[in-house]
Amino acid sequence: MSAQPQTVATSQGRVAIEHVHIHLGQGAQAFEALHDVSIHIEPGEFVCILGPSGCGKSTLLGALAGHLWASHGRVTVDGQAVTGPHPDRGLVFQHHTLFAWKKVVDNVAFGLKMQGVGRAERRQRALELLKLVGLDAFAHHYPSQLSGGMQQRVEIARVLINHPRVMLMDEPFGALDAQTRLMMQQLLLEVWERIRTSIVFITHDIDEALFLADRILVMSPRPGRIIEEIALDFPRPRQQELVTTERFTELKRHCLALLHPQHDAQPVPPLPRLTPLGAPPRLQFAI
Ligand SMILES: Nc1ncnc2c1ncn2[C@@H]1O[C@H](COP(=O)(O)OP(=O)(O)OP(=O)(O)O)[C@@H](O)[C@H]1O
Ligand SMILES: [Mg+2]
Repeated sequence: MSAQPQTVATSQGRVAIEHVHIHLGQGAQAFEALHDVSIHIEPGEFVCILGPSGCGKSTLLGALAGHLWASHGRVTVDGQAVTGPHPDRGLVFQHHTLFAWKKVVDNVAFGLKMQGVGRAERRQRALELLKLVGLDAFAHHYPSQLSGGMQQRVEIARVLINHPRVMLMDEPFGALDAQTRLMMQQLLLEVWERIRTSIVFITHDIDEALFLADRILVMSPRPGRIIEEIALDFPRPRQQELVTTERFTELKRHCLALLHPQHDAQPVPPLPRLTPLGAPPRLQFAI
């Protein structure tokens, strides 16, 4: 019998990143890309990571995917140390990784083929997932016959067919036009409501992070550190109207200030230290 998407246990997908440092480069070029990063993600949680370009977001995702190694610290998923890539941790990039010579349905079914699942069952399960992402009518097309948004929907189905404990998404909608991007965000949330896997989603787009996430983690410039954690209690299912609410705008302003501190603004002179007795005498004339 084929597994229904809803049967995926939400008790899976607990991510623990503990005091992780990652050094990249060789010799004189060696540098610290991540500095003492600790993150805990609950099963089924949707976490977005925001940070300036080059701060180490993809490096962090690479460590979770098992492509990069921590110089110090530990990365575990459901208590198991990450020692290399595994379909349990499915990756979606900005550009799809579909096989050009395989039909959409065979691309989606490929993970099951690797697991030795029979042809009829893997096709049926691939079609179920294609239906979930609204592409069952395109099952027998080739990737090049689809739009960018459709290709990314196939990519998501390709990853989800493995029932990953965690889906790792590195700016998956970054190459799409604004309209398609909004549509994809909505679709991803609908799919995630049905298949409750943990998601680590990297983006530069503050609106996208606020719209999607249960929690946003903001990173500093290199070496990347987590500088702020923002829990979002916007109700689900999320509607587009959310982005015009006062709370959304307020949080957006807060994220903007974290990501773009105003270096060129006039430095604010430090305020004199106040005590219950007032400012110390030597500062009284300095203000
Ligand atoms: N293999 C590598 N060797 C040396 N330096 C690297 C390597 N990969 C990435 N870097 C550098 O490490 C830093 C972190 O890179 P990373 O790609 O993780 O940043 P990012 O936050 O994902 O950036 P972006 O938002 O532009 O995608 C960057 O300064 C990058 O130039
Ligand atoms: Mg990156």
